[in-house]
Amino acid sequence: MSEALAHLALYGLGTMGSALALNILDNGFALHVANRTASVTEGFRSEAAASGLDGRLSVHGSLADLARDMPAPRAIILMVPAGDPVDAAIAELIPLLSPADAIIDAGNSDFHDTRRRTGTVEGAGLTYIGMGVSGGEDGARHGPSIMVGGTPAAYAGIRPMIETIAAKFEGAPCAAHLGPDGAGHFVKTVHNGIEYADMQLIAEIYGLFRYGAGKSPAEIGAIFAEWDKGALKSYLVEITSKVLTATDRETGKPAVDVILDRAGQKGTGRWTVIEALTMGQSASAIEAAVGARGWSAEKEARMAGEAILGGVRGPLALTHGDAEQALLAARIIAYAQGFRILAAASETYGWALDFARIAEIWRAGCIIRSALLDDISAAFRSDMPHGQLIFAPAFAKRLQATIPALRRVTAAAIAAGHPVPALSASLGFIDTMAQARGTTDLVQAQRDFFGRHGFERIGGAAGSHGPWWD
Ligand code: 6PG
Repeated sequence: MSEALAHLALYGLGTMGSALALNILDNGFALHVANRTASVTEGFRSEAAASGLDGRLSVHGSLADLARDMPAPRAIILMVPAGDPVDAAIAELIPLLSPADAIIDAGNSDFHDTRRRTGTVEGAGLTYIGMGVSGGEDGARHGPSIMVGGTPAAYAGIRPMIETIAAKFEGAPCAAHLGPDGAGHFVKTVHNGIEYADMQLIAEIYGLFRYGAGKSPAEIGAIFAEWDKGALKSYLVEITSKVLTATDRETGKPAVDVILDRAGQKGTGRWTVIEALTMGQSASAIEAAVGARGWSAEKEARMAGEAILGGVRGPLALTHGDAEQALLAARIIAYAQGFRILAAASETYGWALDFARIAEIWRAGCIIRSALLDDISAAFRSDMPHGQLIFAPAFAKRLQATIPALRRVTAAAIAAGHPVPALSASLGFIDTMAQARGTTDLVQAQRDFFGRHGFERIGGAAGSHGPWWD
């Protein structure tokens, strides 16, 4: 894009697309829109009109009409489901656009796809931007956190608009250009991985109060509301307290009690784990959360399992203080693991990611916004031994103070038969990282024994072999 701000368009008026479109209009920008289904486009026109936001709105019958009829230079935001719909939209747009135009994918795309699409679109002489947008419907409407990948020049073209529509933390926009091509979508993917872990950790603590301490959802909601005033202050803790104190209109039961305990997943949590493993990392808390979603989907098997294996969840004496500290420790570990994946990707792809900046733009607008992120950004701007958040002085101190509670809660839960896969995975990570000598010497010996893989002798040569080969 050559001009400071191109004519804007948004294609895909689903929940997130229409909310983002209203946000753009509300902030004084003119916008062209279209959707695959005409009735949805008309619904959006009425919604915009009802809010007095249709003055700057131009509605088109199709993506092709939009591209043909709007003036150049064009910046077209795609808000369509990740995967084939993005490729289809790009294929339709390329022949209709001209060199000053940009395509912006604002969905939850796999960053590998974004890298490939950047090659295709820029090969056709156009600009491509992969943009992670977090904050759900409310965030999209009133200010999301925005993670941008693309060239600096491409970002310069959309920056005024992006910074205007983004969430603000103490007046500063929660939006940044993070690196080339797939960098924005990768950071959004890891954001979601942390989101999965935090949600699962909260759910495990809820389960301990509910099925171990015998508390009602409303009582647990009140505990979370209290925690939201302290170190755990965050969007996810806040909405958890609201969810747990809500009542189902139809039955008068706690709302959470009429919901089937089976969750799906669209991919970002799983991709976080896949990418981590591919780069030789292991984000155990995120893995556990993704795995727990998979197990949740096996509802029928779990129902049979309760009968066959005699699922017993014994009573638990759980203090509020211990539960709070345990959740805080595990949350720190989940963030730390997320940032380790970002560091690995930054190195692998040569992105030079600014971790402090990423923490800063997650402080408002996004789903994982929490009081901790302010401290995380400060930690990345100061002393960070071995690039590990868990070793940054402020966090090491917090972990030393909270890990005993995580250990007590996890041990008690396990002893009483409560599933705590993410809490225990978090503890397993920290206990591993807190030991200078682990047990992989034996794994190395086994590998050498059965496959002559060799090992590094302490103070000696790599490629050494054990006496079993003498
Ligand atoms: C956000 C959310 C949002 C959505 C994810 C996860 O940051 O606004 O992360 O993008 O919740 O797509 O969805 P699943 O839980 O269905 O994988």
